[in-house]
Amino acid sequence: MTKKIKIGIIGGSGLDNPDILKNATIKEVTTPFGNPSDFLTVGEIEGVECVLLPRHGRKHNIMPGKVNYRANIWALKDQGCTHIIAATATGSLQEHMKPGNVVILDNFIDRTQQRKQTFYDGEKNHPFGICHLPMEPAFNERTRQIIIETAEQLKIDVHKTGTVVTIEGPRFSSKAESHMFRQWGGHLINMTTVPEVVLAKEAGICYAAIALITDYDCWRENKDEHVTVFDVLATFKKNVAKVTTLIKAIVPNIAKEDWDQTIQELKDVVKNSVMV
Ligand code: ADE
Repeated sequence: MTKKIKIGIIGGSGLDNPDILKNATIKEVTTPFGNPSDFLTVGEIEGVECVLLPRHGRKHNIMPGKVNYRANIWALKDQGCTHIIAATATGSLQEHMKPGNVVILDNFIDRTQQRKQTFYDGEKNHPFGICHLPMEPAFNERTRQIIIETAEQLKIDVHKTGTVVTIEGPRFSSKAESHMFRQWGGHLINMTTVPEVVLAKEAGICYAAIALITDYDCWRENKDEHVTVFDVLATFKKNVAKVTTLIKAIVPNIAKEDWDQTIQELKDVVKNSVMV
């Protein structure tokens, strides 16, 4: 029997409007890793079951380093989510990736310092063993391709690939750091993709991320363009309708396909990565 598709949507700064779901109900849940960022909103998009979770809480009161990423992903897994579409505000490290543009992430560089990146931590009531998960591919390629095809159908321009550097924050980068990340091959910079993408893979969920560019970080010479939190929020708000339209169209396109083999392959990767 084909496994039922359920799609988790993790909203970033500004994308947490529960109105995108029909027949929405609220579910308060907890997990062996503590509480997720907020209650879950469970509902439908075009008849497909979805679960909405605002990454920073509805009041946007949880900073990136304090988000309980493990509880967020576990809660979505527990609800039966087979997929996660995450939205994330990002700075651009490349001239041709402009504020307002959308990028479908395909890789990351981890500069976080104090985040729990695994469910397999040896604690009581947590999964048993030690997990050495391969991170290539980091993002689910089939889900990424559906997002790209959906954007093409809607005539929404997207960059099809992009490497995000995830920093610990909450501060923004220094100019020297920003230049270094450019030299490393980073295209974008944010504070949340790691460990979200890692934990989703460990949970066997098909995870893809839509990055909305809000600023040019601080590597450019024009200091009027250096990132501020005001710019991040204002640019996200200005472009959030584009991301919402995209997500609403992606959901039925994902649900049209058979995912049994992909999900089994992801499960096998995790199983083969755990030493017991
Ligand atoms: N999120 C949005 N813009 C950012 C930037 N320039 N650095 C880190 N995180 C961000």
